[in-house]
Amino acid sequence: MNGTVELIIDGKPITLPTFLGTEGEVGIDIATLRSKTGAITLDPGYGNTGACKSAITFIDGEKGILQYRGYDIAELAQKSTFIETAYLLIYGELPNAAQLAGFSGMLTENEMLHEDMRHHFEGFPPSAHPMAILSSMINAASSYHPNLIHAREEHFPCHAARLISQVRTIAAFSYRKAHGLPSIYPKTTLKYTENFLHMMFSYPGEDCELKPEIVKALDLIFLLHADHEQNCSTSTVRMVASSRANLFASASAGVCALWGPLHGGANQAVLEMLEEIHKEGDDGTKFLNEVKNKTGNRRLMGFGHRVYKNFDPRAVIIKEQCDKVLGQLHKSDPLLDIAKKLEEIALHDEYFVSRKLYPNVDFYSGIIMRAIGIPVDMFTVLFAIGRMPGWVANFKEVMDDRDSRISRPRQIYTGATLRSYKPLAERA
Ligand code: CMC
Repeated sequence: MNGTVELIIDGKPITLPTFLGTEGEVGIDIATLRSKTGAITLDPGYGNTGACKSAITFIDGEKGILQYRGYDIAELAQKSTFIETAYLLIYGELPNAAQLAGFSGMLTENEMLHEDMRHHFEGFPPSAHPMAILSSMINAASSYHPNLIHAREEHFPCHAARLISQVRTIAAFSYRKAHGLPSIYPKTTLKYTENFLHMMFSYPGEDCELKPEIVKALDLIFLLHADHEQNCSTSTVRMVASSRANLFASASAGVCALWGPLHGGANQAVLEMLEEIHKEGDDGTKFLNEVKNKTGNRRLMGFGHRVYKNFDPRAVIIKEQCDKVLGQLHKSDPLLDIAKKLEEIALHDEYFVSRKLYPNVDFYSGIIMRAIGIPVDMFTVLFAIGRMPGWVANFKEVMDDRDSRISRPRQIYTGATLRSYKPLAERA
């Protein structure tokens, strides 16, 4: 049910419409606020701003709920696969057998990069961060498909499949390049996640062993990262798409936004933090004191979330998976012990409890990735592979929305007022 709300601005009442979401969230539609009053809203960091209506993902941060297209994340994690979930996110419904076969076939058809793209990899220095390579190469891939620029609706499924498939190929090629190893081409007989592991770890003439428990763990990591409503990178993708930039350009911008340590880059930062604590022989207590005293501006990486104020349901699933994978691989990891200790202390510490800081998806995912041999600087790349279907779904939602306008926020200006130009000789 949609209604209205009355606000008093500068002593004058105005009536604004409200919009009710399907899960009961209320949005005040302020589209006419400025024309009616001259005022705009100010919300740095957008903690109270709904930038769009979306039917893809629902989060209730107070209750720790995450749903993709109405399906609970725990149920999908248990019963679905990354590719089936990708289809669900993009097209709105779980695929039937024929739709899933069609989608998988399109991913396979589009998995190879244009051969000339291999030369681009050679241009990067060995020290290049794989996220820099990933973002550049996704954009470079668009130049091999000029019909993307004026993409027509009927071409969308092919472009979407190409992006989801090739991001995995680009990611694996970046890793091989960074380690001076020969590129391994995808195999048409392998499924999505198997193929990624094959391109990462096989050698010419010697295929790596694809252990089912590793394939499953990685597929689950991709699935758990597949979408997360209007986070920094997804908002970036929508922002770029709103100017009618193509799908690859929008996704490339998403990769850049994801890279930062407060967002997807947190998985790399968590591992580096745990390594540092381990190296110093600390059990985590000293480190947490530094965090709480705010000395050195440190944060407990992998903790806290803008939306989740109770628990992150992805973190619960990942923690369980972490114990399972290490058990299956007969591995132990001192970093896992430190992570568990940090969590145990933080969950009972006034600083973290009062600020509602809980482990997020990044806290334990790195330990699984490390156990399966993924280098630390590839962690955020794996997040990007997982998040791609969510970005594609959000891009599609922007393009399908006939009322969508270019994103163009306003600001409250706080700089100098009008003044006269001073010639150079007169300046202090
Ligand atoms: N460690 C220590 N203190 C923290 C942390 C943390 N991880 N996160 C927030 N705080 C404190 C912060 O210092 C502030 O304290 P005070 O009120 O004394 O100034 C208070 O909690 C509120 O923090 P905020 O920065 O206003 O919260 P935010 O909603 O803007 O930031 C966040 C959310 C995720 C960026 C933040 O919690 C953080 O930096 N966490 C560590 C990085 C991280 O793990 N990011 C991954 C997020 S989940 C994956 C994804 O979707 O990207």
